[in-house]
Amino acid sequence: MFRRMKKTFPAEFADLLTPKGRRILEGRDRELTGALLDPERRFVALQGVIDPRKAVACRDALDAALRDTLVSMEDPIPHDSISGMTMNYMELLPKTVRVRTALLESRRSRSYRAAEAVGLTDMMRSDSFAAFAAVVSGRTLRRKWGIQVLCYGPGDYTGPHNDHHPEEPEARDGYVDMHVSLTMPGVEHQYLVYAKDGHLSELTKVSTVGGVTVYRLPFWHYTTPVVARRGAEASARRWVLLGTFLDAAPGARASSTIVPAGAPGARPPARVATFGSGGGAGRR
Ligand SMILES: [Fe+2]
Repeated sequence: MFRRMKKTFPAEFADLLTPKGRRILEGRDRELTGALLDPERRFVALQGVIDPRKAVACRDALDAALRDTLVSMEDPIPHDSISGMTMNYMELLPKTVRVRTALLESRRSRSYRAAEAVGLTDMMRSDSFAAFAAVVSGRTLRRKWGIQVLCYGPGDYTGPHNDHHPEEPEARDGYVDMHVSLTMPGVEHQYLVYAKDGHLSELTKVSTVGGVTVYRLPFWHYTTPVVARRGAEASARRWVLLGTFLDAAPGARASSTIVPAGAPGARPPARVATFGSGGGAGRR
């Protein structure tokens, strides 16, 4: 069945982009090139970088191909989080989440085959996908990156968390995530709420069609539940294409890295260590 599907996604992420998106990718947008090297700026939310008609076509192909292949990912509030408390005001909330995900780790999974059939896996593995994350983050990134597809339906959300991975040497000094949102028309809204100056006070709408967000993790944030338009609950889904990128190790071979375009001198990995907020993965 999957063989008959058309590869709606282009082989290169660059082919989804508008002229504005291309300018960013090529390092010609002064404001966005290396935007996340500023330690105060943890993410950027970009609109108008993906061609809207292509975004709609890709979204519809993705929805048709993958919606019946998803698995639930659910971590509720621990049942004893209230009854187990012994001291006032000492409540602790681990990361809670309810979302569905496409399993792309195994080439034999239904999700993988469906994603491959519509061209999604090729596009998410394309050099220009990583190059976009590299240029906005201003970092040289490892060529091997993680890809994931999430699908938020009505009431699906992610609770407050910070995505810090102190046990992983390659990620504990920070890493980069890039999300492409492909939202069905049945969604009224979903927001990302994030911390500024120690408070979860900022929010940005993420229920876009073709919006791109690039993050320098960790920082505190959460995603509000998807709210469906009245009567459109059955088709209210927000798809997220997610790439996770580690900083290249200092001195890494050029063939194993993605160097940001337009960065001063297109810095080799070793020099990146002098930028940013305390260094990236693998640095001492
Ligand atoms: Fe997160």
